[in-house]
Amino acid sequence: MKQTHKKIQIWYTTHGRKDLPWRTSNDPYHIYLSEVMLQQTQVKTVLERYYFPFLEKFPTLKSLSNAALDDVLKMWEGLGYYNRAKNLHHTAQLLSHGQPQGLAPTLPNDIDELIKLPGIGKNTAHAVAAFAFNQPVPIMEANVKRILCRLNKLKTPKDKQLWEIAYKLVDKAKPFDYNQAMMDIGATICLPKNPICDLCPLTHLCKGKEDPTLYPTKKKRIVPTREENILISVYDDKLSLIQRKGKFLHGLWGFESIEVPLCASEYIGEVTHVYTHFKLTCKVYVYYELDKEQEKYFFIDEIQKLAISKVDDKIVKLYLDTISKL
Ligand code: ADE
Repeated sequence: MKQTHKKIQIWYTTHGRKDLPWRTSNDPYHIYLSEVMLQQTQVKTVLERYYFPFLEKFPTLKSLSNAALDDVLKMWEGLGYYNRAKNLHHTAQLLSHGQPQGLAPTLPNDIDELIKLPGIGKNTAHAVAAFAFNQPVPIMEANVKRILCRLNKLKTPKDKQLWEIAYKLVDKAKPFDYNQAMMDIGATICLPKNPICDLCPLTHLCKGKEDPTLYPTKKKRIVPTREENILISVYDDKLSLIQRKGKFLHGLWGFESIEVPLCASEYIGEVTHVYTHFKLTCKVYVYYELDKEQEKYFFIDEIQKLAISKVDDKIVKLYLDTISKL
């Protein structure tokens, strides 16, 4: 294993993305934030649009815990999976709560304690432990999973099996570089479609290298389509929005979904958005109210200050496009 670890280290020194800001930081909060953002979002998007503005607005766990949820959601706008933002906020509050006056809240360094916090699953707990506290543990991000499957010719492995393999393979002397390297090898060499096995520092170990794309078996996912009718109620040049309460997109502002379009409303078009588990198609109707019928109305420039979802943003654009043609 020593030789393998050496190969991985050498590869990381020459090819690793060592300058990513969360890799040059030793602040556990920065590392934790990056891991949460990267759970479902690509490095490029996090780096270009979200990581720095979020830290500028909420530079510490304490400042995040003192913030209003609406402001946190606003900084998350467009990143999707808004539960991540709510859980970050909740975690910051839990860690600040009960902290003696004047003492800054901190993340625990223990995996079992990290997992108890909202939004921190097994992989994120391992990533924070390895990257922020240099603990000798592996991570199990999607790229790493693919590498482990190919190394061991596994088509449909169970999580338990993968974690056992990962724990055996981790470089306990240099867990930070090792785990970052594994992600980079997965992202640049052990690619889903055309892996470049000749360049891989793990090729000597890899049982699956003859036909790597067989491992793991690709799941064919059929995403169902959900259809909604959306009503934009307009009163006095302002649009009615409601703050969502259910589990989905909770806390974000959006337009009302209705069973049946009102006869007096006007159909202006359709917007679609693909989520992980379904595709949403919204038929959009505009209704001009003579009297104020809803609770809250906003001018367009006010809407731009609210946290709204991608679909609602597309609906606003469709509305603006429609009225500009009138
Ligand atoms: N995805 C999850 N964690 C990451 C990290 N530390 N660097 C790059 N991509 C990641």
